[in-house]
Amino acid sequence: MISLENVSKQVGGRTLFDGVTCTFREGCRYGLTGPNGAGKSTLLKVMMGVEPPTSGKVLLPRKVSFLKQTIEEFRNSTVIDTVLMGNARLWAAMQERERLYAEEMTDSVGIRLGELEEIVLEEDGYSAETEAEILLGGLGLPEEMWRQKMEQIPTDRQFRVLLAQALFGHPQALLLDEPTNHLDLESISWLEEFLRNYSGILIVVSHDRHFLNAVCTDIADIDYETVITYPGNYDAMLVTKMAVRSRAEEENRLKEKKISQLKEFVAKFGAGTRASQVQSRVREIQRLQPMELKKSNIVRPYIRFTPLQKQPGQVVLKANNLAKSYEGPSLFQNLSFEVQRGDKIAVIGNNGRGKTTLLKLLSGVLAPSSGTVTLGHGVEVGYFPQNHEDLFGSHKKEIAFEWLKARKAGSYDQDVRSILGKLLFSGDDAFKEISALSGGEKARLILGGLMLTSPNLLILDEPNNHLDLEAVSALAWGLEEFKGTAIVATHDRELIDTFATRIISFEADGVRIKDVSPA
Ligand SMILES: Nc1ncnc2c1ncn2[C@@H]1O[C@H](COP(=O)(O)OP(=O)(O)OP(=O)(O)O)[C@@H](O)[C@H]1O
Ligand SMILES: [Mg+2]
Repeated sequence: MISLENVSKQVGGRTLFDGVTCTFREGCRYGLTGPNGAGKSTLLKVMMGVEPPTSGKVLLPRKVSFLKQTIEEFRNSTVIDTVLMGNARLWAAMQERERLYAEEMTDSVGIRLGELEEIVLEEDGYSAETEAEILLGGLGLPEEMWRQKMEQIPTDRQFRVLLAQALFGHPQALLLDEPTNHLDLESISWLEEFLRNYSGILIVVSHDRHFLNAVCTDIADIDYETVITYPGNYDAMLVTKMAVRSRAEEENRLKEKKISQLKEFVAKFGAGTRASQVQSRVREIQRLQPMELKKSNIVRPYIRFTPLQKQPGQVVLKANNLAKSYEGPSLFQNLSFEVQRGDKIAVIGNNGRGKTTLLKLLSGVLAPSSGTVTLGHGVEVGYFPQNHEDLFGSHKKEIAFEWLKARKAGSYDQDVRSILGKLLFSGDDAFKEISALSGGEKARLILGGLMLTSPNLLILDEPNNHLDLEAVSALAWGLEEFKGTAIVATHDRELIDTFATRIISFEADGVRIKDVSPA
């Protein structure tokens, strides 16, 4: 069981949640939900003990695993070792054992080796590699990558390895923060199945409604500065939450009506002879005070990209005979296509087939192994990388406002402020350090950069990762309304249906391009 006793957390003067008391039971799979910036990641960090609560305490089982987001930390480790590190006790014992074997054998070394051997046995050390390989295979990591170093494999694969790391070693509780962000549909189904068979306590943060419905038995929703748990999946939670809210609002409405009648009576007879009746009504008014309903934190940003540059030529981009290989076989070959002005292209297909690579080639971040990418006359590219750290890497200590302002030379404070406002950064939020921003807030800030610089060709690599449902619909709308050209890699069906007029799909036997009409 995981239990929270009266846990509160404030960050930078704002209360995320206050006096939360609840328990998470074995065998239940909890979806932790709430819009961007609600405090989901923070709550998980408090549970794991990496961040202290402002007050209150958390009780945890002994063996808790969680999904890390820091691929940088494991650059120099091999894929398989990175997975094994998911069982910290086993990993430490194996490391120490290896060190001791290299030393001179003394009595004390021998005794210690015996102890270590016991730990390795307790933790199933001898089947550890096999277990790790099964996880890697399930998550679609090709075998030739298993013994490679993390930095040698593509970014989205590295995130998957971290997922395998979290799942490894039969933890009693599993805390996953947005595990589907870097997964394609096939791996998401595998993960759903894995989690449904998991028998410990699962707490998973996700903005993917389908995933939450498929996996969760219960929902813990962060809103109104607290955590409320609901039995059932995400859709069931929405229904109950709405019902509770409208009941409370209805009660308040009735109370207010009654109060105004009573006040009328008091006003009429207050100065007169019916003093006792007036007194009892005054008491009644005090008793009836409507309860203060905290505002719900569900809000929608406003995302609009307006190309300022004058219209480019009819052909915006030409890819000619493109091929790209890292070390190994080519991801694609002889890829040729033209992008016309106004095209809205969705790039789809399983991970690892080269979507991110193609987008990097098109935006000039990476050079092709052969072939050419030619931009049309007057084309300005705005690129949204899959890994946010590619943009923020060395700017982590910068203030969000300053970072955004620096995107465009000579931009006015008020324009920057107005964009931040549209993207739901209230006064103080705009002056946070980038490192303090939540995943969704970082994604919104990058979108803000594109709104400010107004390119006429948008190249976005899974921009909906980290964004909550409201923000994804705002993005879909923004792309649909966009007067320029857009190329967007995403797995989100609804997003694709809204904006795409063409689809580039990476399939097992090659790349296909077809026209579609948006819904
Ligand atoms: N050190 C800090 N100083 C100021 N604000 C902070 C700090 N750390 C976190 N915050 C703020 O606390 C809020 C909650 O952050 P958290 O990362 O927990 O959100 P989240 O619910 O996980 O959001 P997302 O869905 O975007 O991942 C955010 O508004 C974030 O900017
Ligand atoms: Mg988060």
